Amino acid sequence: MKVLVVGGGGREHALCWTIAASPLCHKLYCAPGNAGIAEEAECVPIGAEDVDALVAFAQKEAIDFVVVGPEGALVLGLVDRLAEIGVKAFGPSAAAARLEGSKGFTKDLCAKYDIPTAAYARFTDAEAAKAYVRDQGAPIVVKADGLAAGKGVTVAMTEAEALAAIDEAMAGGAFGAAGAELVVEAFLEGEEASFFALVDGETALPLVTAQDHKRAYDGDEGPNTGGMGAYSPAPVMTRALIDRTMAEIIEPTVKAMQAEGCPFKGVLYAGLMITKKGPELIEYNVRFGDPECQVILMRLMSDLLPALIASADGVLSSFDLRWYDEAALTVVMAAKGYPGSYEKGTEIRGLDVAPGNSDDVKVFHAGTKRGEAGALLATGGRVLNVTAMAPTIKEAQARAYVAVDKIDWPGGFCRRDIGWRAIARG
Ligand code: AMP
Ligand code: GLY
Repeated sequence: MKVLVVGGGGREHALCWTIAASPLCHKLYCAPGNAGIAEEAECVPIGAEDVDALVAFAQKEAIDFVVVGPEGALVLGLVDRLAEIGVKAFGPSAAAARLEGSKGFTKDLCAKYDIPTAAYARFTDAEAAKAYVRDQGAPIVVKADGLAAGKGVTVAMTEAEALAAIDEAMAGGAFGAAGAELVVEAFLEGEEASFFALVDGETALPLVTAQDHKRAYDGDEGPNTGGMGAYSPAPVMTRALIDRTMAEIIEPTVKAMQAEGCPFKGVLYAGLMITKKGPELIEYNVRFGDPECQVILMRLMSDLLPALIASADGVLSSFDLRWYDEAALTVVMAAKGYPGSYEKGTEIRGLDVAPGNSDDVKVFHAGTKRGEAGALLATGGRVLNVTAMAPTIKEAQARAYVAVDKIDWPGGFCRRDIGWRAIARG
């Protein structure tokens, strides 16, 4: 098969690394890819949200299967457009991608089908939103309805913060069109967890559990990021919680989307709050988490590609995935300054020696390119994902940091405590 992966981050490097190993794949492309992905796939210079160019490329090259990494193109309808020209793809239609593309859509779906989530209201008028906040009081959470690159959520501990967030989104246009509508919802207390399942429209197949660290600095302090590291398994997701999450959240959602005439296919990524009452939905994403994907795929023993095709074909019910029992952990190395402003183009050395001789260490590239003389240069905020597998999370952590310390990149930084919560649980 000729396969095209869309995206150019660490998640897509892990996808390409995994798919390239499939006996079903004889030619792999990635758009736009990065310097690490170039070792697995032929990179084509098309942006991950350039739907027209991606569709034209798939047609010209007679691509058999497209795997879409990031949410942008899914929400824009890439999978629908590919279907129109007879190209099969892994990922939801635009209508099903509303689970991530519109928080209001998801909240209404939860309300209609009795899926546990925080009480909420939707607003297109700032004054009405403010009146609701004054009535409900703080803490309260204000969310831009649409895609806001992970920045559209304000967890307001005071009423004043919530009112300011409403102004910023609606009058200030901080999130553009994505913030023209808001969801205001109750603050949920508990421990956060993530849950991933492959879905084929009808059947959901849970993946191994994984958890990321969202804050930039050690101790889970500092600004929110896309994720500074991740580990799998996530001990917070006990067997009992997995079963409840499947029965109370994932399966009802899959049924609801079918009933609404927009069956969901792809990977459903639930952000959960484990409250006193049980798991409640914070939000859905319609794609693999980044960097959670990297640790999940590190543990996958089965061939990924047939599973992704089964999701697209609606035949997951006859499918099973096998996993290594070992734990996996990834440390994100980011450009100094991230998630604020940072320098681009700094040189990275030592990647050839970092993994040592171990198959259990893999450095995925999240934001790199080759300079003219072949030097490896950082091009993004999150740049490398140093990933290790070992019998326990603690050993995987130690192994990952041994590799991190061999990387010579004065322009970068990383957290030194990825996995601490899981290790503290024992
Ligand atoms: P998001 O950008 O949508 O991933 O949300 C950012 C973070 O806001 C989440 O990871 C949670 O920590 C927090 N959050 C979102 N909704 C709520 C809520 N209803 N109650 C408490 N925390 C929340
Ligand atoms: N790691 C969080 C995300 O992919 O959204």
